[in-house]
Amino acid sequence: MSHVDSRLEDDSNYLRSIRHQYENLPYPFRDPEDEKKRLIRPTSERLSNLNHYCYRGRARFDNFRVLVAGGGTGDGTTYLATQLSQFPGATVTHLDLSTASIDIARRRVESRGLSNVTFVHGSILHLPDMGFEPFGYVNCTGVLMVMDDPDAGLAAVRSVMGPDSALGLMLYAEYGRTGVYQMQDLLRRINGPDADIPTQLDNAKALLAELPAGNWFKRGEDLFKDHLTLGDSGIYDMFLISCDRAYTVPETYEYVEKAGLHLVDYAWSRERVMLEVESYLKEPALLAKVKAMPRRRQRAIAELMCGTLTRQHVYAAPDDDRVAQPGPDMVPFFVDFEGGSNGALAAHIRANPGQPLEMGTDVLRFVYTPGRYSGEILARMDGVRTVAEIFEDIRASGIAAGEGELMADFLATYKRLNMADIILLRHKDTPVVPEVMHADRPGR
Ligand SMILES: C[S@@+](CC[C@H](N)C(=O)[O-])C[C@H]1O[C@@H](n2cnc3c(N)ncnc32)[C@H](O)[C@@H]1O
Repeated sequence: MSHVDSRLEDDSNYLRSIRHQYENLPYPFRDPEDEKKRLIRPTSERLSNLNHYCYRGRARFDNFRVLVAGGGTGDGTTYLATQLSQFPGATVTHLDLSTASIDIARRRVESRGLSNVTFVHGSILHLPDMGFEPFGYVNCTGVLMVMDDPDAGLAAVRSVMGPDSALGLMLYAEYGRTGVYQMQDLLRRINGPDADIPTQLDNAKALLAELPAGNWFKRGEDLFKDHLTLGDSGIYDMFLISCDRAYTVPETYEYVEKAGLHLVDYAWSRERVMLEVESYLKEPALLAKVKAMPRRRQRAIAELMCGTLTRQHVYAAPDDDRVAQPGPDMVPFFVDFEGGSNGALAAHIRANPGQPLEMGTDVLRFVYTPGRYSGEILARMDGVRTVAEIFEDIRASGIAAGEGELMADFLATYKRLNMADIILLRHKDTPVVPEVMHADRPGR
């Protein structure tokens, strides 16, 4: 199904230059044929993560309604719709300004045999008048900061959210993109206002090939890959876009709060770990001083210390009590974890009692030191048993551990592994969300 918003005839509610860009160079560049080979799975859009971070581990996905605002070529839409096809009545609405982008997203969805997506060609600013019931979840990644008025964009998104809804937002991060904005400035000076897209791209490629080593983009080029992996669409989107702004961590908090939302948490483990002061700060007195500060100030400090945060994926909601909390009735489970399965990790910890284990993300490695009972706990974490049942089973096996000792070990393990998105929680009355893997295609 597909709708066109006739108000797009009048361009007062979107940027003509932005529409022109994404009609000519849909971003990110995707070949619908690739759906036969792989499924792109942005972690922030995994239903298990949404359940944990946005719905206290108690989400019901039957009849769940998702809006992907500025959905582009369909990464979020394809993954969300694939997962939601397992739940009766669950739907995705994909809204975008660019027909060329919608066309790619539609072909990806069709290639996966999905029938739960509606495409709408229109502007986010028209959302308040489109007659939608509130959506349970709105995904809006890489969109609001390319709008003329990002505050108006977020207010329009907020208008289709109810009290229980949540928002997944991606904004650019300012300091990590320093070199990108210098390149944009440089190219504006070279191209002037009238150069066409092919000329702009030729000039950008020529410049990229000749940047001296001291250039700020060159110095930090390893932070970016779009210009290398996404062809002209990636080069244009990073260096030649007509309107794009970035936010510091405190500005991101303020931005969502101005719209009447709370920043629930950072959605990607990579960014959560980057924004943890303990990742860098080891001097005990200074660390204690910073750890006594409010969370957002700690994160602002971590952002400046690390310097390389380029994007911010956050969850926001009308209230801030959204993240699942460990407790006796919660079921802890392993998400797909490249380092090995639950059993392999538990076996390793049992074979090496008390030995620290190096784990982590692509940017930061951390050392996890298992507690006395961590191996026993991890070995029983089967995605079915609750925390209370795991403890009961340990005691039934003849291990005389007190409730407090078991809980202390569980919490230490949970905190470390949850930070890296290795363990999540769901409430025992909430059905399991089956994970769809790269090769999975519905009906096959
Ligand atoms: C950088 S792309 C991001 C696409 C997608 N969200 C993703 O993360 O892959 C930005 C998208 O926002 C769309 N867009 C920009 N302004 C918009 C508006 N006012 N209403 C709807 N879509 C808009 C563009 O057409 C483009 O497809």
